[in-house]
Parts: sequence; structure tokens; C-alpha cells
Amino acid sequence: MTDPAAAPHPFVVAIDGPAGAGKSTVAAHLASRFGLLNLETGAMYRALALKALRGGTDPDDAAAVTALTHTTRIELQPQATGNRVLLDGVDVTGEVRMSEVTAAASRVSVHGPVREWMVAAQRALAGTASSGVVMEGRDIGTVVFPDAPVKIFLDASPEARGERRFEQAGPAAASREAVVQDMRERDRRDRSREQSPLVPAPDAVLVDTTSLSLPEVVAMAEAIVAAHTPQHA
Ligand code: DC
Repeated sequence: MTDPAAAPHPFVVAIDGPAGAGKSTVAAHLASRFGLLNLETGAMYRALALKALRGGTDPDDAAAVTALTHTTRIELQPQATGNRVLLDGVDVTGEVRMSEVTAAASRVSVHGPVREWMVAAQRALAGTASSGVVMEGRDIGTVVFPDAPVKIFLDASPEARGERRFEQAGPAAASREAVVQDMRERDRRDRSREQSPLVPAPDAVLVDTTSLSLPEVVAMAEAIVAAHTPQHA
């Protein structure tokens, strides 16, 4: 059992997994249920990707994207509905969800120095949360907070995840096939990159959400967190 108050770093619930597994929804519920700050690390990679695209920097150019980090400030402001994202002080919450930014975020995230910069920023952000954080991403339980007391790895079949992504995209979405194809390509890159590939931490609780309803997934996640925080149980 871990007592958040006695932990040397803030109490961290790490939520990792591929796109469309339900991470953001589960993280938002856990944050509200347990009074934790909700930090969506993917939004930080998205903000850097947006800056690269806007400035004509090739997302695959490791040196150029790394140089960009030296003059970039990314802030996450957790709200009830998700994170507000500030890029160099300007709100880009809507822009970072565009499909070309989504693809570029996965591409900038393969570069080692970019990841090191992100990890340092994410640890600093978590340090500002006195009550603890739910941090969501791909490498939270393996790299950012390998000693997090609670680690949940959410997964689902590619078909289920693609279907959810298509529904979330609404009427502006490309075809179902295009959404699924983009997601598969991003998955392949996120899982096969050399630096911090998407894998479950050895001590993560794996939850396959393929045939679970959202309330069922949320209930499972709440039970996992409650088991580690006696005062919340
Ligand atoms: O969670 P998301 O879809 O917003 O993430 C966008 C991209 O950022 C994802 O394809 C991979 C990358 N990412 C990462 O490499 N590590 C994280 N902790 C979070 C996201």
C-alpha cells in the first residue's frame, strides 16, 4: 500500500497504452474521483509537432526538431474536460487535435533528445501537483515514473480502437478505412521506435477494453487505484 502523503515524489497514477484504448476518458474520471491533476503528455508531443509543421521543420529531422525544443515552451492546464495546451503562451488546444498534427506528433516522438526534454518537463509538471497526478501517455510507467505506485496499461483490438477513433472524429472525419489506417501506422511507429517504445511496464495492470463498456473500464480502473490508496477506498 502506498500513502501519497509519504511518497517522495507526488502520488502518480500512470496510464499508458495505444491510441483509442480509452486512456483520456479513464484518466479524466480517475482525476475527478481521486482529486488528482490530469496530465495528458501526448498533448505536449502534439504541441511540438504543431510548431514544427508551422515553421516548416521536418518532423523526421532529429537535429532540427531537437533545436526547436530549445526555443519552445509548452504548458498543460488541466480542466474538467481535458488539458488546455499552451504553445509559447498561446492556446493551441484545438489545433493539436488536427489529423496532420496527430501524425507528426508520432514522428517527432521517436527522437531521443526530444523525449529526454519531454520527460524532464513532465516530471517538473507532476512536481507542481501537491495532491498527485494521473499522467497519461506511452512511457509513463516505463520511463517518466518507473516507480509510480499505480500503473495501468489499457489496450484493445485495433478494430475496436479504430472504430472508437472514427466515432470520436465526427462528421469531419475521413473515411473509416483512412482513420483505421492512420491509427495502425501510428501504432506501428510508437511500438517499434528505439527510444521508449510503447510497451507495458512489467508491473503494470493490463486491461483489455475491447469488449468492455466505458463504465466497466472506469470501474476497473477506480478499483485498481483505490487498492493502492487506502484513504480513498
Ligand atoms: O496520446 P496522443 O495520441 O495524444 O499522443 C500523440 C503522439 O505522441 C503518439 O502517437 C506518440 C507520442 N507520445 C509519446 O511518444 N509518449 C507519450 N508519453 C505520449 C505521446
